[in-house]
Amino acid sequence: MHKQYHQHPTLTTHLKAVVMLICVPLLLFSCQPSLKDTIVIGFSQCVDDDDWRQTMYFEMQKELAFYPNVKLIYKNADASNEQQIEDIKALREAGIDILIVSPNEAQPITPIVEEVYRSGIPVIVVDRKISSDNYTAYVGADNYEIGNIAGAYAANLLPEGGKILEVTGLPGSTPAQDRHQGFVDALKNFPELRLMNAINGQWKEEVAREEIRQHLKKAQEADLIFAFNDMMARATHQVLDAAQTEDMPLLLGIDGLFGPRLGIEMVNNGILDATFLYPTGGDKAIELAVNILEGKPYDKENILQTTVIDQSNVKIIKSQAEKIYEQQQDIVNQQNAIQEQLAVYQNQRTLLYVVISSLVAAIVLGAYALYSLKEKLETNRQLKSKNEEILKQRNQIMQLAQETEEANQAKFRFFTDISHEFRTPITLILTSIEDILENESPGSALFHKDIHLIKRNATRLLRLVSQLLDFRRIEHGKMELKASSGDLVTFIQEIFSAFEGTAAKRNIDYQLVSIEPRLELWFDGSMLDKVFFNLLSNAFKFTADGGKIVVMIEQDTENRMARVLIKDNGRGMSQEHVAHAFERFYQGEQNSSMGTGLGLSLSRELIQMHHGAIRIDSEPGRGTSFEIKLPLGKAHLKEKERIERVSGSSSAQLRSIYEEEAYEKEEIFTEEKQPSHETSILVVEDNVELRKFLVSKLQAHYQVLHAADGDQGLSIAFDEVPDLIISDIMMPGTDGIRLAKILKTDLRTSHIPVILLTARDTTEQQVEGLQTGADAYIVKPFHTKYLMARIRQLLQSRELLRQHYLGKASVAEALEIPKGVNKLDNEFLDNFKAIVDQKLSDPELNVNEIAKEVGLSRVQLYRKVKALLDFSVNDYIKQLRLTKAKTLLLQQELSISEIAYEVGFSSPAYFSTVFKSEFQISPSEYIRSPSSAT
Ligand code: FRU
Repeated sequence: MHKQYHQHPTLTTHLKAVVMLICVPLLLFSCQPSLKDTIVIGFSQCVDDDDWRQTMYFEMQKELAFYPNVKLIYKNADASNEQQIEDIKALREAGIDILIVSPNEAQPITPIVEEVYRSGIPVIVVDRKISSDNYTAYVGADNYEIGNIAGAYAANLLPEGGKILEVTGLPGSTPAQDRHQGFVDALKNFPELRLMNAINGQWKEEVAREEIRQHLKKAQEADLIFAFNDMMARATHQVLDAAQTEDMPLLLGIDGLFGPRLGIEMVNNGILDATFLYPTGGDKAIELAVNILEGKPYDKENILQTTVIDQSNVKIIKSQAEKIYEQQQDIVNQQNAIQEQLAVYQNQRTLLYVVISSLVAAIVLGAYALYSLKEKLETNRQLKSKNEEILKQRNQIMQLAQETEEANQAKFRFFTDISHEFRTPITLILTSIEDILENESPGSALFHKDIHLIKRNATRLLRLVSQLLDFRRIEHGKMELKASSGDLVTFIQEIFSAFEGTAAKRNIDYQLVSIEPRLELWFDGSMLDKVFFNLLSNAFKFTADGGKIVVMIEQDTENRMARVLIKDNGRGMSQEHVAHAFERFYQGEQNSSMGTGLGLSLSRELIQMHHGAIRIDSEPGRGTSFEIKLPLGKAHLKEKERIERVSGSSSAQLRSIYEEEAYEKEEIFTEEKQPSHETSILVVEDNVELRKFLVSKLQAHYQVLHAADGDQGLSIAFDEVPDLIISDIMMPGTDGIRLAKILKTDLRTSHIPVILLTARDTTEQQVEGLQTGADAYIVKPFHTKYLMARIRQLLQSRELLRQHYLGKASVAEALEIPKGVNKLDNEFLDNFKAIVDQKLSDPELNVNEIAKEVGLSRVQLYRKVKALLDFSVNDYIKQLRLTKAKTLLLQQELSISEIAYEVGFSSPAYFSTVFKSEFQISPSEYIRSPSSAT
């Protein structure tokens, strides 16, 4: 019966699920731009130690603030081509998405830029160009245009012509080349303007300063100096100013940055005559990079506008620049604030994610715990119910085993009891035959009595056997109801009449009352006669002579039933016995009298076969009544249960069996006059016949007392203190074992030999019997001769014991504890001796006084002392007095008179009389010749 439970997911599976549940939301929440989503811009700057480059970087950063997912990697080549090549390679290696480059010089940087471009990385060229078109986009002002505007502006400043000096940037860089070309081209229209040999300032303030110093004269000669950036213009002014140049040349610059000492400021305070705005395009380059990467449309050439800043507009431009600067500062501040807020937001978002994740985890774990709990509870429930089922099965098995055991025990008991039941009649038959064979002549009264006893017990055996056979037939379904229609009143009348003789003899008021003159009933006569014979014979057994037994027949028309009541005013039964009365194997307190309980059980079976019912109602001391109900008509009977003939009358054999048994009662109570014998024996036996038999056998030699049960036996034993007790073991109430125990532990009866008589014949049972202190154990069936011999033997050994006491030279010796005597008796004798010894000189010492001291009645003390020492108490006291007197006389220390009082005689004369009658010589003669005393 192996039950397959559904497969539970393993712990690992559960854990995996839990981890997934916790991690997935975490991953979802942590959706900040991943590395993949981040745009990486690499920016290679040629140089960065001037304000213009700083401004470019600042503008880039400002723009970057709008793109939190854009990361800028910045490299400064420090005006070195080699360094810039290395920087670009490094940026490419770093995995940039796009390259912004401001090449130091066009030629050297072009190959590496082209390489990057070809590798698929977009390239934005800013400010300075490379020398090819292999780039993605360009951001910057048109340097040629700037140069051209500057040229036109210069021409305008020198309408009458003059000398012009250029301070250029790195010649290899495109702004230097383009600005120069634009300037030159503008001057072509003005022949009166002469371009001096340019000074190379390499875009740097220090270089320009040094060059101007070197060529100071030349610079002082110039009417206008065009520096390619404001830094170099400043250096030029400084050198010329320092040289206290009288006729300061006009000075032009490029860049037009706002800030202290920068282009706008220098125009404003007159150091420069004009500067040309050269925007850095830092912000534009970032915006363009993002657009390119996002695939938005863009222009390859992004040309930034230029403008002239001179005295005509410097104020406005300055104030605009200031405003822009302030706004930019505000933007920066706001961006910083935003950054801070963002940081706070990021922190809070992270915290929120942690909280949400924890919450999700808690919920998931909680759900999992609940789920596990549910699973566990379910498993527990299944286990519990399985356990309960197993327990139930176990209990059923145990109960079955117990029932089987009980049934076996009951059967065993039943067979034991049945065999016991057989033993008593067999004992009686055997002992009677024994007697006949040995002593009796045919025709004698005893012979007839024995023959009668044999017949009655053989009949009883026959009844037992036929009841047993009936049971066997019922058990094997062999007993079938064969009912036919007949008159129940007539049928019962016949059985009733069988006991009329007994009733008359025993003076029992025996009546049959039938309201109906006739009562038609379908019944099986061969079954019902057993029932009624059995019930009537029971009633007779338990009813005392002079009692009353009534049989009533009536019709219960309402229930369509015939009702028969058998009522006696006998001894009745206890509630417990009533409850079990119909149980086949039950042995009640009235066991042997009730038979084996077979009769009632069989009766019930037979009534039930008639589809009827039997009920018992009983009260101890008040009587018993049996009620039998049998259904009228034949509708309740099956076809095969019916037979078409008139129901027969009761069987003659049954009649004789039950008649005999009912008669017993009367006979046993007719006691014969007993011959008076000195030795008395008490017979305690509940079986009437056996008791009667034993009494009759013992009467020839002893005075016989008898009791029908243990309680009665005990009370007779205490009152009469017999010389020997014979008791059955199995008896209602106090059984033989208990009886023996009580007798042997009671001072009043402890000395009485007890013979236990029983059907129980196992060694253990015998040992149990003897352990009670019983002196003998005789198993039924027994031979009368053996029993008689055993009785004699026990009485004789009592005699020997007495001899033992009396044979001693001194009283003290005589009262020594001999072997084999009941401990209680020894104690008694010790006590008795001490009392007598102590009070010997008291002439008033008598039985009453001693009895009081030892706690026995006068009679009990008398019987006990007589049994143990074969003296009456008074004789014994007298013996002791005389024995002690003899000793004192021989010692000759006291006078005869003194001795007389000493041993408790009321006068010396009385002492002499008693002494002489006992020993045939006077005390004085005894002193002279002790040997002459008898
Ligand atoms: C700064 C700078 C600017 C100039 C530009 C030309 O390094 O010299 O002054 O306009 O570079 O590339």
